[in-house]
Amino acid sequence: MSAMLRMANLDLAGKRVLIREDLNSPVVDGRVTSDERIRASLPTIQAAMDQGARVAIMAHLGRPKEGEPTPESSLRPVADRLGELLGQEVPLIEDWLDGLPEIAPGGVVLCENVRWCVGEKANDEQLARRMAALCDVYVMDAFGVAHRAQASTHGVARFAPIACAGQLLVRELEALAVVLEHPRRPLIAIVGGAKVSTKLGVLSALLEQVDRLIVGGGIANTFIAARGYAVGSSLHEADLIDDARALLDKAAAAGVDVPLPTDVVVAPDVKTEGSARVKELEAITPGDCILDVGPATRSRYAELVAGAGTIFWNGPVGVFEVAAFAEGTRALGEAIAESAAYSIAGGGDTLSALRTFGLSDRMSYICTGGGAFLEYVEHRTLPAVEILEQRACEQ
Ligand code: 3PG
Repeated sequence: MSAMLRMANLDLAGKRVLIREDLNSPVVDGRVTSDERIRASLPTIQAAMDQGARVAIMAHLGRPKEGEPTPESSLRPVADRLGELLGQEVPLIEDWLDGLPEIAPGGVVLCENVRWCVGEKANDEQLARRMAALCDVYVMDAFGVAHRAQASTHGVARFAPIACAGQLLVRELEALAVVLEHPRRPLIAIVGGAKVSTKLGVLSALLEQVDRLIVGGGIANTFIAARGYAVGSSLHEADLIDDARALLDKAAAAGVDVPLPTDVVVAPDVKTEGSARVKELEAITPGDCILDVGPATRSRYAELVAGAGTIFWNGPVGVFEVAAFAEGTRALGEAIAESAAYSIAGGGDTLSALRTFGLSDRMSYICTGGGAFLEYVEHRTLPAVEILEQRACEQ
């Protein structure tokens, strides 16, 4: 892995340590409903506290407008949940940019939503300098937002006296290296989701590395159309059919297998699950909306997955939130869980499918990032990682 300074190798006793975490979590009625990201951040936070550091955490929640704090975008529910998990109260500091309160060695505070700060998104230098002035050591641990060059993920790392990587960031990059650098073959990527347009780059990059690519959801529908089949009223991108065709050509030239569904579950639309039925791909009519893969395709995908050495999974293959269209994603998840392959899964929808089917602890590694996960696969680096590497050369 790249040469970044690691928090684990530093003496943090008595130091002011500013840790950027990705604690972005779903909140309903003032309570965090899924605390996976908070739990994933705990080892870094706890390790810094155990070393006697004076810890302040920066994090974001949602995408609020800068300079316009709202109760809905407050990190209060996150501070409460973090406190429960750490077994001690975590004070939430509203005005922190001009100076933090005194933090005892081994103590921790959470700074209010970093996205309330004007200039965060634009990676404003003055803002980054103010953040850097709060610490002796800056720790970047927020893999899920490492693809954003913002003041709290990138700028601050330029100006902090010491900038290093936290344990979670290191673990995420190590897990990705297993897939990208020395995968056990065959390597299968499963990429679902609504749009080819948002995943063109990553699909193209994956075709240079994988042995087999299974596409799902709207992406699969666009590929199905590119192979010349009718897709009825299914979600697909007609203007991306040429790109999908080019990807299929690239796959063929590289010897990468891109199996498409042979049967699918259709209904007039997602709300009419009562009329869901299985159809052969050749039998799709204009009123059909493809919402899942069919049983023959499920078995075939399960067989392919069973023979894999490494599996990369991002995105469901059907509308798994609706029972009538959930079986494809469930069967795929179960097949991955059963297989002896090294499996890495990431992305919000994938994680929520894993939760729905009770498979969250059956993957080899669950990545906390969605966009960051895909961008890393495409570019093999991320802005927040690059700046840590640069700083490591100077420090
Ligand atoms: C996420 O939820 O994927 C990360 O926290 C990044 O959030 P963002 O897409 O709003 O930058």
